[in-house]
Order: sequence, then C-alpha cells, then structure tokens
Amino acid sequence: MVIKNQIYVVAICGSLREGSTTHSALSVALTGAEEEGAKVELIDLREYRLIFQSVVSDESDYPPDVHKLKAKVKRADGILLGTPEYHGSFSGVLKYVLDLMGFDEFEKKVIGLVGVSGGRMGAVNALSMLRTVGASLHAFVIPAAVSIPHASDAFDANGNLHDPELTERVKMVGREVTQIATLYNKRE
Ligand SMILES: Cc1cc2nc3c(=O)[nH]c(=O)nc-3n(C[C@H](O)[C@H](O)[C@H](O)COP(=O)(O)O)c2cc1C
Repeated sequence: MVIKNQIYVVAICGSLREGSTTHSALSVALTGAEEEGAKVELIDLREYRLIFQSVVSDESDYPPDVHKLKAKVKRADGILLGTPEYHGSFSGVLKYVLDLMGFDEFEKKVIGLVGVSGGRMGAVNALSMLRTVGASLHAFVIPAAVSIPHASDAFDANGNLHDPELTERVKMVGREVTQIATLYNKRE
C-alpha cells in the first residue's frame, strides 16, 4: 500500500462575522487535522469575490475567485464545513457557497461538520441538514460532528475554547477526517 500524497484538508467558514466563533472552532478542528499530518487551509469567504449561482448561464463566466474556490475544494481530500445555527438551519452564506459547487468538488470526499449556536441547544438542526447535503453530494460525512452551544462565551480572546474536553472533541473532527481521507487515498 502506498499513500498517494499528503492529505489536504480545507475548512469552509459559514460566517462572515468579524470575530466569528465558527471561524475559531474551525481553526481548532484544523489543528486536529494538522496533528494527523494533513496540510490544512481555512477558507475565509470574505477574501473571495463570489456571485450567486445561476447569475451566469455558463460556468466559464464565473469570476476568478469562484474558480479559485472550486479548485481548492476539488483538490481537497477532506472538507470541514463550519456553520452557525441560523433560524434552525445552517447559514445562507454556506448554502450560497455550496450551491456554486457540486459532485466535482464533493463526490467521494470526507466531510467533517462543526457548528456553533447562540443558544443552549447547539447547532443540531444545522448539522443535521448539512449531513443531508453531504449525502446528496455523494460525500462521506463522518459520524462524529461537534456543536458548540453558547458560542459567544465558549472562546477566549485568542480563539481558544475554555473547555479542554470540548477542545479535544472539536480537534477529533479534524483528526478523523484526516484519518478516513488517508484510508481513502491508499492505493495498491
Ligand atoms: C440570523 C440569525 C439567526 C440565528 N438563529 C439562531 C438559532 O436558531 N438558534 C441559536 O441558538 N442561535 C441562533 N443565532 C445565534 C448564532 O448561532 C450565534 O450568534 C453564533 O455564534 C454566530 O456564529 P459566528 O460567531 O460564527 O458568527 C442566530 C443568529 C443570527 C444572526
């Protein structure tokens, strides 16, 4: 068995808010992926000039940043999707970005889910809906997902979680995505 290449894990942050707790949670999860040997990248959508899907009739007319984003996700072996719970679902920003992509970027990829919420129920609805999205894109969504309730109180000023147990659970999502992507990438 030969392992193809170093595993590449990208994280897509479904909040554009300055000081986003989703962004912090994804950073923690990517630390777990790095500990497993992955090359990692947190995609901050504020750095991309995107357009709504269907605005152009031909994908080749998409602005360069859409192609850049799609190429990164296509190249990734593992994808972490991070979202806040918004009105009992995942964020519109994340939906907007997912709808710019499809099987080319997601099929047979390993997905890990990370959610945050303002309330005490956690991002349970957002995560459940993202699991359905992952399945419809023929990706393997790992069983373990992590949700951080009361997110505004959960992190310190440096973006670290106060709770060491929760830190480990968030890291575990990145670790498991890397481990399973590594298995997928083994070739005879
Ligand atoms: C439009 C909107 C809808 C929200 N809906 C919910 C919700 O249904 N349940 C909940 O617990 N928190 C809800 N919140 C709170 C967010 O989940 C919370 O502020 C979260 O930390 C935001 O993530 P961020 O820090 O990454 O921006 C909502 C916030 C906004 C702006």
